[in-house]
Amino acid sequence: MQKLKIGVLASGSGSNLQAIIDEATAGTLPAEVVMVISDKADAYALARADAAGITTAWVNPKDFASREEYDAKIVKLLHLAEADTVALAGYLRIVTPVLLNAFPGRVLNIHPALLPAFPGLHAQRQAWEYGVKVAGCTVHFVDEGLDSGPIILQAPVPVLEDDDAGTLAARILEQEHIIYPLALKLLAEGKLMVEGRRVRIAD
Ligand code: GRF
Repeated sequence: MQKLKIGVLASGSGSNLQAIIDEATAGTLPAEVVMVISDKADAYALARADAAGITTAWVNPKDFASREEYDAKIVKLLHLAEADTVALAGYLRIVTPVLLNAFPGRVLNIHPALLPAFPGLHAQRQAWEYGVKVAGCTVHFVDEGLDSGPIILQAPVPVLEDDDAGTLAARILEQEHIIYPLALKLLAEGKLMVEGRRVRIAD
């Protein structure tokens, strides 16, 4: 089995990035994070990558006239780093076909809700305010829509009586850190087969 060469795109704290780095380092995920790119200069994800000796880049959206031109720059950097897989991890931009076509079937995202419920921003708060009894998170392939690609894995998180949006989000995040590396492992092992909207998992 070939190790994945993952390029991670992150805008924020990077705890999912950290989970991926930790499992790759421990050998439980057959992968290497070859590059971390952020649209935010001060994203803590960049500091985490630096600490792990991973090449980083900040690409300022203000320097580009369109989302497509921005993504063309991202693709260039990912190709230079020889990435074969792209993991969006708290990445606050919608990606365009420029990125998707450069890595067909190899762009994944983690979303802190049980899709198709609560796409978009602040999904944990949306779920809590709606009053759901079971929240959770989803790893999915990325397509051109908002949090709409075929679902790879989901983890449920029960909502407790004394939860607020913050405590719920914290428990969802714990599950994210489990299912994102696991989904990447399944991809590395060649166990994911996309059939329309359905992702079949071998074994
Ligand atoms: C996570 O909740 C992820 O699902 C969402 O943004 C958050 C990023 O957290 N897309 P982190 O940057 O990985 O800590």
